[in-house]
This record gives sequence, C-alpha cells and structure tokens, in this order.
Amino acid sequence: MRRIVKTEVLLSRQEIEAKVRELAEEVSRDYQGKNLLLICVLKGAVVFLCDLLRLLEVGAEIDFMAVSSYGNSSKSSGVVRILKDLDQSIDNKDVLIVEDIIDTGLTLSYLRENLLSRNPASLRIITLLDKPERRIAQIKPDYCGFSIPDKFVVGYGLDYQEKYRNLPDLCVLLEFA
Ligand code: IMP
Ligand code: MG
Repeated sequence: MRRIVKTEVLLSRQEIEAKVRELAEEVSRDYQGKNLLLICVLKGAVVFLCDLLRLLEVGAEIDFMAVSSYGNSSKSSGVVRILKDLDQSIDNKDVLIVEDIIDTGLTLSYLRENLLSRNPASLRIITLLDKPERRIAQIKPDYCGFSIPDKFVVGYGLDYQEKYRNLPDLCVLLEFA
C-alpha cells in the first residue's frame, strides 16, 4: 500500500474561514423567511457544515445523508448507493445540499434527482470546493467557495482513505512512498 509522505497547503484555515463567512452571509440573505434544511453529505462535508451553520443568521434544520460510489478507488464510478438516508421528510422544506467538493458531479447528480423526487419546496447546492475540470455530470453549484485545480486534496474534513480529515488547512497530497 502507498503511504503519503508530504502535504502542501492549498488553502489556509484563514482563507477558508473568510470564505465560509461570505457564503454564510449570502445564504442568510437568500433564505430569510424560508424553511431552510441543510442536508450534509457525510462524511467530508461535516466540518464545512458545522462552520457554516454557526455563521448563519437564519434558522436552519440539519440532516445527514451518507452515500458511496461503488468501489473504493479515488475515482468516482457514477453508481451511487445510499448508506444512510434522511431522518425526516423534506416535503415543503427549502433544501440546501452541503457538499465538501464537486469532482465529476456524479454523486450530486444522483442525489439531486433522488431528493427532487421527494417534493422539496426548493433545492439548491452549496459546495466549499469545485474541481470543474473533471466534471462529467451537468452540475453547477448555487454557492461555491473555491474553484480548485485537478489535484487530490485533504484536510478540513476531506480524507484520503479516511485519514487527514483533521488537518485545519486544505492540503494537496504531494508524494507517495
Ligand atoms: P464526484 O461524484 O466525482 O463529484 O465525487 C464527489 C466526492 O468524491 C466528494 O464528495 C468527495 O467525497 C470525493 N472527492 C472528490 N475529490 C476529492 C478530493 O480531492 N479529496 C477528497 N475527496 C474527494
Ligand atoms: Mg463528499
């Protein structure tokens, strides 16, 4: 098995914090008087969800979904399996899907269709990171923190084989041994 030996900071914790603050202001403006439900896609988006949630100036409910693409490589297969579904109905809710990163877009494209079939009042997507170069499915986030180059990143909740989620900065994996 390959072992990562080096990481390099792509986005510092300060840059991320400032961006999350901006996003929270936008969301707070847009969702005044609405029935906001944040749906966090486990596990990578939990850190983003927590930071965003605490900065919102509108009330919001939260719920979680866990999905997995078949296979365990770092490449998406496009076939998505629901590992954990929502606890509640989203009927009449203004749903905002909270993602850590959009890569091929296949995961979100599946999730969007799945959630739309449950009759939410509205459905939007917020992602901290976007890798537009690798897009396969037609997915455009309504709110996006940063567009980043096609590099595998970890930290701020994102993992490589379940590790590195704890890094406070967003880092690029540089070397393998
Ligand atoms: P997509 O279906 O290709 O858009 O895959 C999105 C999911 O793949 C994200 O929610 C992440 O869980 C994972 N992912 C994609 N790129 C990265 C990365 O650079 N680092 C960590 N996870 C990633
Ligand atoms: Mg994810």
